[in-house]
Amino acid sequence: MSTSPATPTRGVLLYSGKAKDVYATEDPSRILMHYTDGATAFNGVKKAQIDQKGVINARISAFFMEKMASAGVPTAFERMVGDRDQLCKRVAIIPVEVVVRNVIAGGLAKKLGLAEGARLKAPLIEHFYKSDSLNDPQINEETAVLLGWARAWEMQAMREYALRVNDVLLEFWGGLNIDLVDFKLEFGRLPGDVSGATSVVLADEITPDGSRLWERGTGRKLDKDVFRRDLGDLSETYKELYARVFGARLT
Ligand SMILES: Nc1ncnc2c1ncn2[C@@H]1O[C@H](COP(=O)(O)OP(=O)(O)O)[C@@H](O)[C@H]1O
Ligand SMILES: [Mg+2]
Repeated sequence: MSTSPATPTRGVLLYSGKAKDVYATEDPSRILMHYTDGATAFNGVKKAQIDQKGVINARISAFFMEKMASAGVPTAFERMVGDRDQLCKRVAIIPVEVVVRNVIAGGLAKKLGLAEGARLKAPLIEHFYKSDSLNDPQINEETAVLLGWARAWEMQAMREYALRVNDVLLEFWGGLNIDLVDFKLEFGRLPGDVSGATSVVLADEITPDGSRLWERGTGRKLDKDVFRRDLGDLSETYKELYARVFGARLT
């Protein structure tokens, strides 16, 4: 039997990122992730406040993290606290971003001079070194292992989890007549047990900030490209996406 856990309180600010603030709690193994309305693009060059984005992203990410746990992908997410805070297990973030692509777009199209929109024959996994000062350069798995950012088995676990996440997301968005073009994940390590073993879990977020979502038929973008490329009002786009995901408008 689990009893209703006490509401965790915000401790010191550990990190203030581009879209979230991370706070310590009274429990050293837990953090509160506070989703702000901040939006950035091009590594912080373009910035704005987007009405209700924090609430929308926190709820969408929580919804997906719960789905992933049910699908056998361990996550750091525990529960929502209020409108835009998430209680999460505190992990050591592995500084390797995992991108899964189903359709050619974004950085892949740009780098190789390809048109956006062609479906890949199978999901393509790419890795990027998480470093704002270097602009998140692309790396491969060997680089990550040889430079000590992750062990080979951890890279393998991240790959398997990322593909499982992709399967779940493809099915979910497909059911809403939305094509999942690509998305980015971060993983972290839980503190080790006495033997020193650690385990990899999905961390951070699954949101339209880190995904490309194209409406089927129209190709209309329902993700942060609306902001990056000045295609319209991102707040309205996210509110519409929220209504599609939850079947009711944000109140
Ligand atoms: N469960 C977790 N434990 C510790 N750190 C986390 C966890 N989940 C996410 N983080 C980190 O917290 C920060 C979230 O803030 P965000 O605004 O996304 O930052 P960034 O500007 O680096 O993208 C990121 O650096 C992310 O790696
Ligand atoms: Mg982030």
